[in-house]
Amino acid sequence: MLPTPYVKCDYNKVYEPAEDSFLLLDCLEKEQGFLNERFNNRLAVVCEIGSGSGVVTTFIMQNKIIPQERSIHLAVDINPWALEATLDTAKLNSCENSYLDVVQSDLNACLRDNQIDVLVFNPPYVPAEGVPDFPESREQADQWLDLALLGGKDGMAITDKLLQQLDKILSQDGVAYILFCARNRPEEVVKKFLKTHNWNVKLIEIRKAGWEVLSVYSFTR
Ligand SMILES: C[S@@+](CC[C@H](N)C(=O)[O-])C[C@H]1O[C@@H](n2cnc3c(N)ncnc32)[C@H](O)[C@@H]1O
Repeated sequence: MLPTPYVKCDYNKVYEPAEDSFLLLDCLEKEQGFLNERFNNRLAVVCEIGSGSGVVTTFIMQNKIIPQERSIHLAVDINPWALEATLDTAKLNSCENSYLDVVQSDLNACLRDNQIDVLVFNPPYVPAEGVPDFPESREQADQWLDLALLGGKDGMAITDKLLQQLDKILSQDGVAYILFCARNRPEEVVKKFLKTHNWNVKLIEIRKAGWEVLSVYSFTR
């Protein structure tokens, strides 16, 4: 069992690692062999969208889910506090030898097309009336935090946007790991996605977490 990174940040500003984060870590551990084989002879660009505290990106780097010399890492978040937290968590866990950059961005707005080999996304998935507006200033910490949770209709507003961009984001042999909760109706989401994409979608892990059922699916061409 691979170690979980040590995380120490202000949870009034960034999402505190929880069952969803830990499920993603377990999935990535399970996928380590597959990823190593898939990217065994070239540099892999690993991108986490919505890195929050940085626990997932740090786990990937710390445990060499893809070896250090064959990977570069990009952590993207809409929340400026999350970017600082991600850098702090990487440092706290001695990941200085990995290449990591952080960018404030709305989903993939900052990414060039078809450059990402491994994409990881634990989205705001809680059903809500809408998705909160972007706060007007960096100081409105609680409003940035709301963006971590509230996912609009069926909790799918943000994930749907990302799924629509997946073909544009991933490299030819890229793979995306996306987390869902049961209220997102992941099976229906996957069916709908496959109607318009001739891709492989695989359930990697499903787990009951309190009253929630969480799952992670992988998406490849
Ligand atoms: C559920 S948290 C996950 C945090 C971390 N990855 C983890 O697993 O603990 C969702 C993250 O997505 C970020 N986020 C929400 N909407 C976003 C958007 N449109 N673009 C980029 N990041 C976004 C939030 O700020 C938050 O850090």
